[in-house]
Parts: sequence; structure tokens; C-alpha cells
Amino acid sequence: MEKNKVLITGGCGFIGSQVVSMLANSSYKLFILDDLSTGKKENIPLDRADLIVCDIRSEEAYEYIKVLQPNYVIHLAAQIDVQTSIHEQQHDADINIMGTLNVIQACKSLPNFKKFVFASTAAVYGNNTDLPLTERSATLPTSPYGQSKLVGEQYLALVHELYQLPYAALRFANVYGEKKYAAKDVITSFWRKLIEEESPVIFGTGDQTRDFIYVEDIASALIEAMTIFQSGIYNISTNEQTSINHVLAIMNELLGKNVPVKRLPKRPGDIQDSCLSNEKFVKHTSWLPEQTIQTGLAKTIVGKNNQLKVGVK
Ligand SMILES: NC(=O)c1ccc[n+]([C@@H]2O[C@H](COP(=O)([O-])OP(=O)(O)OC[C@H]3O[C@@H](n4cnc5c(N)ncnc54)[C@H](O)[C@@H]3O)[C@@H](O)[C@H]2O)c1
Repeated sequence: MEKNKVLITGGCGFIGSQVVSMLANSSYKLFILDDLSTGKKENIPLDRADLIVCDIRSEEAYEYIKVLQPNYVIHLAAQIDVQTSIHEQQHDADINIMGTLNVIQACKSLPNFKKFVFASTAAVYGNNTDLPLTERSATLPTSPYGQSKLVGEQYLALVHELYQLPYAALRFANVYGEKKYAAKDVITSFWRKLIEEESPVIFGTGDQTRDFIYVEDIASALIEAMTIFQSGIYNISTNEQTSINHVLAIMNELLGKNVPVKRLPKRPGDIQDSCLSNEKFVKHTSWLPEQTIQTGLAKTIVGKNNQLKVGVK
């Protein structure tokens, strides 16, 4: 029997490479479509996956998918930076809306197509403070990035309605893990400052909370979503709120540091608290997040320290 084919767009990136590693020992045939704009070939086992380097917006990508006829698509390729989305709205919409639509269109009438898994984000909820946020909570994006991801979800719902394309759109909480040295997320920036014995910066009191989820738990949710029965939207989170002060305290302890904090005023637009309910996804699958903030941060620090040894920037 022919093996099922899985196409992972953005498979050379932070989350995509975790998905590829987790699927490397499975019976699926793996294909990656990535323009390498932020991802790297070195992130993936090239003996286990075929890589085509191209842009999701291109005719080439559309034709490639049509000919390949994947059974599953995990669509991760995107413009992911919120600040870039604010300063280059057209560019963000071009990749996240038009690029996503190109991939959806290529999949919509494929034979034996089983699931389109889409990486969405908690940014679609914007400043909604009605915690914990469920999939029925109001979507109020406050950035073009959140808006473009919401439009991607809506196109999927529409194509599902019109052509019965099976899909799962996963709204990720705050993902952390062994991101690149230069990544801008709070955990990478704390780690960088601490290892350089410089003061980590906290905006506001540090009492603000986030629902931090470790990248391996996100990758396993994406894989689990391939076989979810019901098409629709699912939050992927830990259901836990952790304050920024607590994250820093854990990291200081793990790294054996105690560098004084630099406190700056709260940034305009920063939300106070965030927490997503994962109840729906947990009910429909056998998935549960495995890492607590302590164990996830410990793995992150080991990974980042190793990256530093081999000179990753
Ligand atoms: N990292 C997070 O905290 C987070 C949170 C919520 C949602 N997401 C979503 O998860 C997905 C993966 O994010 P990530 O953190 O791994 O980002 P990443 O930048 O590490 O990975 C994105 C990958 O897509 C590729 N890519 C970008 N534009 C492309 C294009 N036009 N054509 C083809 N390939 C392209 C990049 O080269 C890269 O390999 C994204 O869709 C992102 O919006 C991420």
C-alpha cells in the first residue's frame, strides 16, 4: 500500500522542524515546501524529507501541490512577526492571506485529501480579556498579523463549506523553545541577557501573565490534529497563566544567575493577561501538553546553551 504523504509548509522553521523530527520515524512520506526566508535546511533531516524551496504565493507552489497530491498538509509557512505586520501590512497580508489561499486552492479538490492543518494564533483574540478564551470567544485582532491569520481561518471554513475540505485551525498560545539566538520573544531575550550577565528588561510590573506552551507540545498537537474527526478551530495551550516575573525567576534559578532586572514602563498595546482554554482539543483527541513551565524552560535552556556552543546566531 502506498504511504500517506504529508506536506509541511514552513517545515524548515522553528515549529516546522520539530514537526518533521517527530514525524521522521513515522510511516508517512514527508515533503517540505519552504522559501528559507527564516528557516534553514540544516534544521531538518534531509534523508527523511523531500524539500522544495519555493514561495507559498507562487504558481510553482500551486503546481507542486497539485502534482504531489499530499494526503495531509500542515501549513506553517507565514510572516510571523507582529511588528513587521504593522509596518509592512501589505507584505504580511500577501504571505499570510494570499499565500495561504494559494495553498488551500491547490488542496481543495485533491483525491484522498484527509486534513489541512493550519497554524493560527492567540493573536486573533487581540485584547479580549474574557479569560480563559475559548474558541467561541470574540475575535478582536489588534495587529495585521492577527487579522491575516483570522482571514486564513475564515477561508478554510469557507472552502470546507463549499468543497468539504477537512481542516483544523490551531490557535497557538505563546510558543517557546530553542528559538534562534536572535529571536525576539521574551524567553529568548531573558536567556540572552542572563548569559551575558546583563539586566533582563521587564516592561511594567512583570505581573502580566501569558499561557506559555513548549514547542514540542505544539508539534505533537499539529500531528494529532491530522487525525481529528471534526473540522474547525481549536485552541492549543496549557490552560496555565505564568507571570513574566515567575518566568524570569525560574530562568535565574536554572542558569544559576541573579542579575538585577531593568524595569521599563509598560508598552502601549501590551495585554495584561492571556490564557486559552484547551478543553475542546483535549476532548477531541488524546493530546495533553507534557511540559510544565519548569520542565519546558529547563529543556529550552539546555537547547539554547547547545546552540551557543555551535555558534547559532
Ligand atoms: N512561534 C510562535 O510563537 C507562534 C505562535 C502562534 C502561531 N505561530 C504560527 O506557527 C507557524 C510557524 O511559526 P514559527 O515560529 O515556526 O516561524 P518560523 O519563522 O521559524 O517558520 C516559518 C517558516 O516558513 C518559511 N516561510 C516564510 N514565508 C514563506 C513563504 N512565503 N513561502 C514559503 N515558506 C515561507 C520560513 O522560511 C520558515 O521556515 C506560523 O504560521 C506562525 O504564524 C507561531
